[in-house]
Amino acid sequence: MDIDIDKVKGDLQNNFITDIIYFDSVASTNQTALNFDSNSRSNGIVIIADEQTKGRGRLDRKWFSPKGKGLWFSIIISSFKDIEYINLLTFIAGLAVNKTFKSMKIDTDLKWPNDIMYKNKKICGILAQFKSTGNKVKKVVVGIGINVNQDSFPVDLKKFSISLKNIKGNKVDRAKLLTEILNNFSIYFKLFNNKEYKKVTGMWKKEMKLLNKNVVIKKSNGNRINGTVIDITDKGELVLKKEDGSIKTYIAGDISIDKKSLMV
Ligand code: BTN
Repeated sequence: MDIDIDKVKGDLQNNFITDIIYFDSVASTNQTALNFDSNSRSNGIVIIADEQTKGRGRLDRKWFSPKGKGLWFSIIISSFKDIEYINLLTFIAGLAVNKTFKSMKIDTDLKWPNDIMYKNKKICGILAQFKSTGNKVKKVVVGIGINVNQDSFPVDLKKFSISLKNIKGNKVDRAKLLTEILNNFSIYFKLFNNKEYKKVTGMWKKEMKLLNKNVVIKKSNGNRINGTVIDITDKGELVLKKEDGSIKTYIAGDISIDKKSLMV
């Protein structure tokens, strides 16, 4: 693997990240992280792999994770204050990755709840998973998958996915990318830890393209709801004004621009 983990560790600043544990190949870094020791010492540990054989996305979708081509890693968080704001950890990760892309002069945007897009194609996906005992969350694992140096994608993904190399036209240094993302993550995590939830969602909204747009939300049960995105709450829920004028908040769903509204 071409990432020098010791160098990355040495280049971490101010940092929430306490350790980085590297594997050549795992089924899923999220799974490895979830199985990892659930005590407070695991707070801030990163699990990274060069390849995932069973990388997972939301709604149990597969996440294409070929060897050496991307960044596939999970951050373990086992100490937090307000459990009801826990979904903002996905936002924290999104802000950190998006800021890193912007510093590379790549004009990405955030798509609720967990994607980073470049011209409507996905360049990064985030999946937060929880481990609880009883109704107490013991640990949150924030999994981040970034398409870095793929030249091409399998046929079924081609239309929806893009890599940094596709955009920049040259290979991107994964170690530098990882270092910057982890440093940015620590900065945003500090806000979360200081309970500055409004600030987090405020920054997130600024990077979101679909605010005030007509969209369709597809729920996991197949239902489709049309409306206008009017806000994101402090807890990361999407606020939708439906076509009948009623207002509803959603915690999850697949959102896309309502094509019908583009025709008028
Ligand atoms: C999505 O877009 O639905 C989320 C994709 C998340 C992929 C990352 S890669 C590292 C971590 N391990 C996994 O199995 N999934 C996440």
